[in-house]
Amino acid sequence: MVSGVLRLLESLGELPEPVAEPTLIVVSGLPGTGKSYFSKRLADRLPFLVLESDALRKTLFSPPSYSPQESTQLFQTIHRLVRDLLNKGIPLILDATNLSERAREQLYSIADQLGVKLVLVRVEAPPEVVYQRLKGRVRDAENNSDADWEVYRRMRPSAERIRRNHYVVDTSRDITPALDKIVRKVMHR
Ligand SMILES: Nc1ncnc2c1ncn2[C@@H]1O[C@H](COP(=O)(O)OP(=O)(O)O)[C@@H](O)[C@H]1O
Ligand SMILES: [Mg+2]
Repeated sequence: MVSGVLRLLESLGELPEPVAEPTLIVVSGLPGTGKSYFSKRLADRLPFLVLESDALRKTLFSPPSYSPQESTQLFQTIHRLVRDLLNKGIPLILDATNLSERAREQLYSIADQLGVKLVLVRVEAPPEVVYQRLKGRVRDAENNSDADWEVYRRMRPSAERIRRNHYVVDTSRDITPALDKIVRKVMHR
């Protein structure tokens, strides 16, 4: 586990400057809804490190199996990494489906324990838009996800409402207002 955290840390490259009060932004949503796209646009505006679970999975497991055991191990390692980085003052955007409230609760408790500001975002898009996107998505340097329409359909029933205050972003529309709001929220102390 510790070596898993170290391997992920090594894969991250240069980290942003540490700050006194780092924020954790959690970007959740089904495959193809635009989490990675949105996270990158947000990171263009904020000096945050993006932790993309699809990329981290491939660092730890190559090739990935997507088995429940693999996912459990992946997220345990990611949660430790999140805790370590926040402890070092590194502001984070976590880009992962995180569909169940139970999965998200672990992140709530990390943020609560460390006393860091937590910003929750649910990214969504109409199914027909997701269908077109996933049909056209190729595996390349820009895309670390292997999820296709079948995976989307399988995962859709497990998407649970986020019980804490959160932003909802429809990525089939202009995302600029949502980016503006979140940037303002993070800057405001
Ligand atoms: N707001 C957007 N505008 C244009 N293209 C988008 C937008 N959001 C997502 N996409 C495109 O849709 C595809 C799926 O988005 P992606 O961010 O990879 O989804 P996810 O990370 O949720 O699986 C990608 O090719 C991405 O470039
Ligand atoms: Mg993605």
